[in-house]
Amino acid sequence: MQKKHSGKTTEIILRFLAEPTDINLFGKVHGGAVMKWIDQAGYVCATGWCGLPCVTVYVGGIRFHKPILIGNLVEVRARLVYTGKTSMHMRVEVRAADPKKKHFTRTTQCTIVFVAIDDRGRPVDVPKWEPCTPEEKRLEQAAIRFMESGKQADEEMVSAF
Ligand SMILES: CC(C)(COP(=O)(O)OP(=O)(O)OC[C@H]1O[C@@H](n2cnc3c(N)ncnc32)[C@H](O)[C@@H]1OP(=O)(O)O)[C@@H](O)C(=O)NCCC(=O)NCCS
Repeated sequence: MQKKHSGKTTEIILRFLAEPTDINLFGKVHGGAVMKWIDQAGYVCATGWCGLPCVTVYVGGIRFHKPILIGNLVEVRARLVYTGKTSMHMRVEVRAADPKKKHFTRTTQCTIVFVAIDDRGRPVDVPKWEPCTPEEKRLEQAAIRFMESGKQADEEMVSAF
């Protein structure tokens, strides 16, 4: 499912079943599988917005709230929350449900940033996304604060390590 703004994608929802190949040592879905789904949903949303090839430049704030079980119906929702010059910031939420009951529970959340690139892998400008609703404006401000605090924390960690 896709939500659009001026003909461009601003939100994408992927739905599928967690398969036995996604299993970890404890019989649940392993974190790497969840991160791959987040990357895929973020990619579809980012490239759908800018219409260009994109690469992941940053993933942060990932929180695994609850495990996902094999056979669960999984829903991965990526939503554009901020655009910079060449970057597109998405908030991603993963939810899961027993397909017999369809009661979805939030399992994972994070922020993922993609950069649009040209055919030589260099960053290129993306169309500006303008938040319209109060909720979109709040999300944009939160994304800006998250990016600024994340960059500062990264710099401190790099200089300390
Ligand atoms: C993504 C890439 C092309 C960016 O090139 P670069 O020369 O580092 O470009 P810049 O420093 O100008 O950064 C580009 C954008 O990324 C953003 N960015 C960089 N680090 C960031 C971070 N930690 N958090 C959020 N945004 C970040 C910059 O703010 C900039 O956004 P803006 O133009 O909207 O302001 C390059 O780093 C790259 O190829 N990385 C590897 C990508 C990859 O292999 N991903 C995994 C597989 S898809």
